Amino acid sequence: MSDWLHDLFRDRPWWMNAVMVFCSYMAFFYMPWDIFWKPVESDQEVWFGILFTGWWAKLMALPHWFVYGAAVYGLRRRRPWMGIAATVYTGQVAIGMLIWPILHYGSLLGIILGAIAAVPFALLTMAFWNARDHFASELRSMRERYGDWALVTGASSGLGVEFARALARDGVNCVLTARRESRLQELALELERQHGIATRCLTLDLAESDGPDRLADAVKDIDLGILINNAGFGYAGRFEKLDAARLRDLIQVNCVAPVILTHRVIPAMRARGRGAVIITGSAAGRQPMPLHSVYSASKAFDLLFGESLWVEMQAGGVDVLVLEPGSTETEFQQVAGELAHKGERPAKVVEVAFEALGQQPSVMASWFSWLRANIATRLGSRPLVAHAAHHVMEVQTPGEMR
Ligand SMILES: NC(=O)c1ccc[n+]([C@@H]2O[C@H](COP(=O)([O-])OP(=O)(O)OC[C@H]3O[C@@H](n4cnc5c(N)ncnc54)[C@H](OP(=O)(O)O)[C@@H]3O)[C@@H](O)[C@H]2O)c1
Repeated sequence: MSDWLHDLFRDRPWWMNAVMVFCSYMAFFYMPWDIFWKPVESDQEVWFGILFTGWWAKLMALPHWFVYGAAVYGLRRRRPWMGIAATVYTGQVAIGMLIWPILHYGSLLGIILGAIAAVPFALLTMAFWNARDHFASELRSMRERYGDWALVTGASSGLGVEFARALARDGVNCVLTARRESRLQELALELERQHGIATRCLTLDLAESDGPDRLADAVKDIDLGILINNAGFGYAGRFEKLDAARLRDLIQVNCVAPVILTHRVIPAMRARGRGAVIITGSAAGRQPMPLHSVYSASKAFDLLFGESLWVEMQAGGVDVLVLEPGSTETEFQQVAGELAHKGERPAKVVEVAFEALGQQPSVMASWFSWLRANIATRLGSRPLVAHAAHHVMEVQTPGEMR
């Protein structure tokens, strides 16, 4: 709990933390009460010094709710737009506080009351303006944050390639591993030429029971700052039609390999007091997924494993993140035996992961996946969610495998 509180309030001046606490109270308690429970006849809302009452007040409360919600998000996640947005909004409140008593009481009393009410907000406006660099500050590069070397599994295709490219752009040397050697060599050459980094290619099958340990042994001489547990595959179809040996491989690659690799790599990161571990989970790990039953279970495993680790590692300075992509344009669908369907760009998905690393335990790669998973799992009943997922998977699975 104390780690969580420390993480929540670190790196922000006290007055900004106070504003964040106030906005949280408004967004999660006061505004819902104001909008849904407060009687219409007694409702009042002020915008730009103009007083709204009754149903107009209810209507004008909605943008207020949005503003407080956005403020909590912007302050908590240090979004670049927050410096200007907070300055403009608190400035608007200061003007409103000045104008409203003048309109209401008129004469000298209104001016005095207005000035008294406006001063704290005017000071806050100036404070946000002076602190705008706090929000504008660029994220430090991955190399600066975590160290010189990264290990990327599943680097022969799709997300793994994009992870390696993004790391190389930040000057991080990469160990690239997968089974297809020529793909790894090609990527290594590209990264060395374009970004001047060092690479090491390791051709290895993570489905073999000693695969993860052999991989960890092969990088023992390197100070790994970043581990990207990305290798994985899906296997679509009705459970009894699937090959048991391939299902065992799936669990080995998707679940066992990240556990063993992370277990081997993390002690050195903790000893150094910094490091990053990303696990590529999936939006499929958020709900039961008929016709992808073992795959979705494997990704639920990754999610809970990674999120638990996120807390355990916080005190040691190691950032853990579970990336949960929805459909992404890689070789995944073909390997899983799914019918082709549209997906996100892998480079965009990796960008989301790097932005969220160090800020939260898991991240959905798109708003659509986030909405779908949250609406389904929070509002829907388990049978409803399972049947809806079955319907989606039926469309994506060839007839003979359903
Ligand atoms: N694309 C999507 O729609 C999607 C959605 C959600 C989650 N994901 C997850 O994203 C991760 C990356 O997948 P992707 O979309 O980039 O698919 P991909 O293009 O098929 O890449 C999968 C990578 O995993 C490697 N791999 C598979 N089996 C392996 C094994 N036995 N040993 C070593 N490496 C192995 C592959 O390399 P080799 O074949 O050369 O060994 C390849 O580099 C996976 O964990 C996947 O579950 C993907």
